[in-house]
Amino acid sequence: MTDAGAQTVIDVLETGVDWVRWGASEMHRADRCSGHGFNTALDETAFLVRHVLGLPRDSSPDWLRGRLLRDERAAIYDALHERIADARPVAYITGEAWFAGMPFHVDERVLIPRSPLGELIQQRFSPWVARAPERILDLCCGSGCIGLAAAMAFPESTLVLADLSPDALAVAAQNTEAYGLEERTTLVESDLFDALEGEQFDLILTNPPYVPRREVDALPDEFAHEPRMGLESGEDGMEHPRRIVAEARRYLADGGCLIGEVGAWRPELEAAFPAVPFTWIDLEQGGEGVFVVRDDELPR
Ligand SMILES: C[S@@+](CC[C@H](N)C(=O)[O-])C[C@H]1O[C@@H](n2cnc3c(N)ncnc32)[C@H](O)[C@@H]1O
Repeated sequence: MTDAGAQTVIDVLETGVDWVRWGASEMHRADRCSGHGFNTALDETAFLVRHVLGLPRDSSPDWLRGRLLRDERAAIYDALHERIADARPVAYITGEAWFAGMPFHVDERVLIPRSPLGELIQQRFSPWVARAPERILDLCCGSGCIGLAAAMAFPESTLVLADLSPDALAVAAQNTEAYGLEERTTLVESDLFDALEGEQFDLILTNPPYVPRREVDALPDEFAHEPRMGLESGEDGMEHPRRIVAEARRYLADGGCLIGEVGAWRPELEAAFPAVPFTWIDLEQGGEGVFVVRDDELPR
């Protein structure tokens, strides 16, 4: 961060607006990446400043014009220092991430929710899912954000949250409880479908790891705070997606479908399954590589 010492900065910056501007400038100077749920450095610093001051995240910017107490300034400095000097994403500093319009608890045990599947959940997967699904599986669930948001969108459904990481499942359990969905939700420790033998679902949702091993280390510093097993998927980034597409049919009920995300790896997935007619969804809120495929279109 800037050469000016912490005390000088705390003495000089008087208002919330001062801190948002300075934080964004420092983010740019340090070449920090805003890819974990925010579009710009200004968005991130404004969110963080409001959080420290205990203001609602959508409160008017007018409230940031007031002068701050010295303790408040010191607390904002500490939070910005964590974000900029340590490259720690905002969601890990605040312990919360918003996904599909809902807050979820997150910490370093889970990936920070940011899947474009959130946009589809808010539209109840229309027009891809015509009938409300009774059984939903969120495979590679992490914090549980995708499955829990889907379970809220389809109040009659039951949900299975599956992940190989016991740490991630502990966070998913916490979020399940926070939304009062324990009765409808089962958490399963599973290597992809392995522990789900004999189960069938109307809707399988998945945002699996899909970053090639050699590319994980080249990602911006922020990603080093996330669990590596949430990102890395073999030499070519396709180890998990390949297994999921190859095995999904057995776990889909008649008329069910698989909706998944592979980011920039659409060509690789199509090349791996030339006979599968994936439908690639146009996303209004950004992101890429989200596909839907029906049970009878998947390999036997
Ligand atoms: C990209 S993260 C997605 C997390 C969450 N669905 C989301 O969108 O925020 C992938 C998740 O897959 C889990 N995972 C990695 N390998 C797995 C495997 N073989 N079987 C099941 N889950 C696995 C990781 O623990 C991580 O939680």
